[in-house]
Amino acid sequence: MKKSKILIKLTGSIACYKACYVISHLVQQGHEVYPVVSKSALEFIGLATLEGLTRRPVYHDMWERKKALEHIELIRSVDLAIICPATANIINKLAAGIGDEVVSTLFLAHDFKIPYLIAPAMNMNMFNHPATQKSLGILKEWGVRILDTDCGHQACGDIGPGRLMEPLQIVEIINKELKSGV
Ligand SMILES: Cc1cc2nc3c(=O)[nH]c(=O)nc-3n(C[C@H](O)[C@H](O)[C@H](O)COP(=O)(O)O)c2cc1C
Repeated sequence: MKKSKILIKLTGSIACYKACYVISHLVQQGHEVYPVVSKSALEFIGLATLEGLTRRPVYHDMWERKKALEHIELIRSVDLAIICPATANIINKLAAGIGDEVVSTLFLAHDFKIPYLIAPAMNMNMFNHPATQKSLGILKEWGVRILDTDCGHQACGDIGPGRLMEPLQIVEIINKELKSGV
């Protein structure tokens, strides 16, 4: 399997722990994984975990001194970008063209010759919300690949769509996407 550079961005969902399995599998397969986190994601997962899993620094603050233009360098060099898990908030923000923190700013600077995947994870009402559904449609039109969500028990107690796809399935989709881009 070709070894690739993968940018993975985590946003503020309980499913951040599942993204750790995705990262771990990708690293074990030999891929270089570059982690980026939103402020909310850091409420669910720690920098040390992500650094440990990827063996790389975690990009989380655009304004960190000496790293101001690093985001541009980062997206120029990767083979694929994915938001996993993607919150309703980030999906709606991206579709509105907002770039007010690290995850959305990297998306605005993305070159769509490189695959961009979004793996939503949220409560079923957030997922079915007209704003979220409309935004997913807009993002698809722009060339983003939206991964399916699983239907089932959610952290809030509801049963329905919006659960993050299982980590191994996500890893398989990433690898297929990388292969088709060769
Ligand atoms: C305990 C808890 C769990 C949450 N889980 C989710 C979730 O799974 N999906 C989601 O879209 N938002 C979830 N949220 C809300 C987001 O964290 C919130 O909208 C936040 O502003 C998202 O910021 P971000 O998109 O920049 O990471 C949760 C909030 C809390 C307090």
